[in-house]
Amino acid sequence: MKRSHKSVIIALSCFAGVAAARAQVVPVPTADKSTGRAAWMDEAKYGMFIHWGVYSALANGEWVMCRSKIPVAEYKEMASKFNPTQFDADQWVAVAKKAGMKYITITSKHHDGFAIFDSQVSDYNVVDYTPFKRDVLAELKVACDKAGIKLGFYYSQTQDWEYPGGAGRKWDHKVQRGDFRKYIDSKAIPQLKEIMAYEPTHIWFDTPHSMTPELGREFVAVVREADPDCIINSRLMYHGNQVEGLKPAQLEELKSMGVDFLSYRDRTIPPKSPWEYWETCMTLNGAWGYNAKDNNWKTPKQVIMQLTEVVSKGGTFLLNVGPTGEGLIPEQAVKNLEVAGEWLKVNGESIYGACGTIFEGEGQFITRTAAEQAALDKEALETGAGKRKKGHEQKDYAWLATGREGKLYLHFFQWPTEPFVLHGFDKDMVTGSYFLADPAMSPVKFTQKGGSVTVNLPSKPLDDLNTVLCLILE
Ligand code: GLC
Repeated sequence: MKRSHKSVIIALSCFAGVAAARAQVVPVPTADKSTGRAAWMDEAKYGMFIHWGVYSALANGEWVMCRSKIPVAEYKEMASKFNPTQFDADQWVAVAKKAGMKYITITSKHHDGFAIFDSQVSDYNVVDYTPFKRDVLAELKVACDKAGIKLGFYYSQTQDWEYPGGAGRKWDHKVQRGDFRKYIDSKAIPQLKEIMAYEPTHIWFDTPHSMTPELGREFVAVVREADPDCIINSRLMYHGNQVEGLKPAQLEELKSMGVDFLSYRDRTIPPKSPWEYWETCMTLNGAWGYNAKDNNWKTPKQVIMQLTEVVSKGGTFLLNVGPTGEGLIPEQAVKNLEVAGEWLKVNGESIYGACGTIFEGEGQFITRTAAEQAALDKEALETGAGKRKKGHEQKDYAWLATGREGKLYLHFFQWPTEPFVLHGFDKDMVTGSYFLADPAMSPVKFTQKGGSVTVNLPSKPLDDLNTVLCLILE
């Protein structure tokens, strides 16, 4: 980005008029925040999304069955050959751990109807239907427990292209047509009970076609009966792209139903959220399920920037990998995640359990030519990953801020060429400053006057990816 770094005046729009809150550079967590069921996720801040199933072997995204209108019998034939011999739960969990991720959300059953666990309800599952015969969820549960990683399950509650009556598009009418309620009673609810037996920390519902509040409550009851602490996302009732438009009454209803956190639109970082607990999910390349043609990997710096942006707005970041049909997480994904994980090892205190501040950071929207945008839209369509929303285009940040009580973290993605000035404090309240990447925590010189702080930064960043300066607050 070509821009000389000037003094930055922070517009405190979201706090305007709230004089008391203005003084809180780092908002003090509300009581609700520390006692809510979802508090662990808010502390975790960073999780791994895994899309994996029969479609992974087709190497063309998780919507391939629908997009290519593959007849159910034909797809099932492919399922009967699914044999991911390279799958190693410990290895996947080690990738998440090295990446600095604290939880995993994996597709227990996606829209294709295939279960990657040992289901008694439907033999269309990895143990009964494939030569592989291993219970993926059971193995992951053991590996996650060993590594101290939380494990939760994505479950496509209404959309099912295999079972008669499952919601969603239909192209193989004879097999797919049926009674929706019968699908709910004979597959969705019984399978939800089954996955609860693996003791997930969260259930991640998706694509709520034909949902009613009554049905939503039924699903919640199944989850809570098995585990009162298991948390549930808003896609039980609303698609990701509906969340930003929800009215206060709808949000209230969600809460009263027992939904714990909002899941925003796919691949978008929303503005601040009306709920204290929210998550947004992102692809590492352009696809959720493995797509052999998609090598458009986010760089470690992009990953760190997006994670920081989400945390700076108070949310949690769920970043996807799509392992191959053999059971391997693509090499480039592993590499990029690991580099970001190294950064987190040093700078984690500015992310885990951190929160938003009154400072919104500064960046420029990434401009794209019409051709670049068209290519991205095409990719989004082909991968089924979801179109980006206008006005939510990604920013290339020069800096962002996160915080916790008594500390403000300034994340520099571009190194200022002039002294960095931060306006907006109500009084002179900085008592010290040091870089997280400096083991000696040597003081960094600053001056302050009338609520503005000027930091004299060294000529070079300590870390090109993101150098974090910690300001200690009175
Ligand atoms: C969309 C897609 C689905 C994917 C999900 C991830 O809802 O339909 O394939 O699993 O996004 O958030």
